[in-house]
Amino acid sequence: MAIVSLALGLVSMMQLSVDLTDDELRAMLSLSPPESPTPRAKPTNKFADNPKAIELGEKLFFREGLAGEGTTQSCASCHNPDLGWADGIQFAKGDGVGTLNTPTVRNSAFSNFVFWDGRADSLWAQAAHPIESPIEMHGSRLGVLHTINDDVELKKLWVELFGELPKYLTSDIGALHAAPNEEFGEIWQGIKASEQLAINTAFVKTLKAIAAFERTVISKHSNFDLFVNGLRKNDIELIEKLSPQAQRGMQLFVGKANCINCHFGPLLSDGQFHNIGLEPYQDILPVVGRPDGIEKVRLDLFNGRNRFSDDTSWKANGQMLYMISNEHTVGALKTPSLRDVALTAPYMHDGRFATLEAVVQFYSLLPGFPGIGHREETLNRLLLSDDELAELVAFLKSLSSL
Ligand code: HEC
Ligand code: HEC
Repeated sequence: MAIVSLALGLVSMMQLSVDLTDDELRAMLSLSPPESPTPRAKPTNKFADNPKAIELGEKLFFREGLAGEGTTQSCASCHNPDLGWADGIQFAKGDGVGTLNTPTVRNSAFSNFVFWDGRADSLWAQAAHPIESPIEMHGSRLGVLHTINDDVELKKLWVELFGELPKYLTSDIGALHAAPNEEFGEIWQGIKASEQLAINTAFVKTLKAIAAFERTVISKHSNFDLFVNGLRKNDIELIEKLSPQAQRGMQLFVGKANCINCHFGPLLSDGQFHNIGLEPYQDILPVVGRPDGIEKVRLDLFNGRNRFSDDTSWKANGQMLYMISNEHTVGALKTPSLRDVALTAPYMHDGRFATLEAVVQFYSLLPGFPGIGHREETLNRLLLSDDELAELVAFLKSLSSL
């Protein structure tokens, strides 16, 4: 028995239902506890950890009709706390229906890039997208500012935090729906450059408040964490929090099934992008994934290197230096965190799997070929037995916050 197991103490080891190798043990310990209570500092958003911004951000996140007059959605319409901060349906449904499954916003604050293809490099840059997407909230940046201006409580908080709203909001400039996109682009072009700047500046502050709130939405300790803690502290009661079946699943996860290759660290995600080789699905065009995301994040007016960022240095935006776009990243999507994964069925970017059983079955058989790019060579058919499949699922279910 080598260093790691000795550090845990013999009593703990004897309580385990599985016989772990030293590598497996070390890998298991690296998954817990969940990261420190707050995500690391985000210099591009100087309001990231401001309590008033968090309070305002929470109200904005849950505000129906946030995106302006005539809109009805809130962020929470699709990211519902009672549904694991997702929506429980296969394809997100806003003003229209797309072909993507809504990911949870829980733990997104730990990601260097957000969205399935990572086309936003911060939570605040991300929040601009759903507001102006015709199939999501279908509003505009000016619409958001009007909502705040017309809501006594929101306006009070906003002004306390950020100062005055742009002046012309009180006069009618007849451009409620003005967004630099295909739909409302002409109206946006009709606005003077100085006013565009004022609108964008106020809009970005609003987005930063939403991001500040999202940073507080993170996983708590799970039965798996209690178990690991029990091993560390020689506490048998805690060790028993993970059933023998889930312990065997954990061993598969860090061992033979090699899930930990991509789902590692306290979030059970490497934060990177991979093509796991899902077959074409229905008549939906396969997504290009990471190469698309990289192109978009580079051009994004709200990326951390652009003028609306509170720190445009490379030091604050180091992740932008390490973006890999080549033939191997075609079809690659972000590895989701597996914390609280039991709460957010259906699974994968297109919600094609209704259950965790179906997901592990996929990894076991790796059927067919991807619709785009190639499956990463590190993935191998596992051909797991029915018992093993159930064990892996039991482990995934032990990762839910208590
Ligand atoms: C109509 C449903 C819908 C609404 C409304 C909505 N979202 Fe989303 N959200 C999605 C979908 C779908 C994605 C994935 C899109 C993609 O990756 O291209 C997503 C992705 C995200 C992500 C990225 C998660 C990650 O870790 O990659 C965050 C954060 C997020 N949304 C926050 C918000 C905020 C903030 C609002 C409100 C301003 C909002 N969403 C409104 C459906 C919605
Ligand atoms: C090569 C990297 C890689 C390996 C190895 C890997 N995964 Fe994944 N996993 C991903 C990526 C990327 C996705 C998202 C793919 C998509 O949505 O199209 C994903 C998605 C998932 C999901 C769905 C999560 C959600 O919220 O939709 C689960 C569950 C999951 N993986 C579990 C596992 C298990 C269990 C194993 C081991 C048998 C494993 N993964 C091995 C990269 C990997």
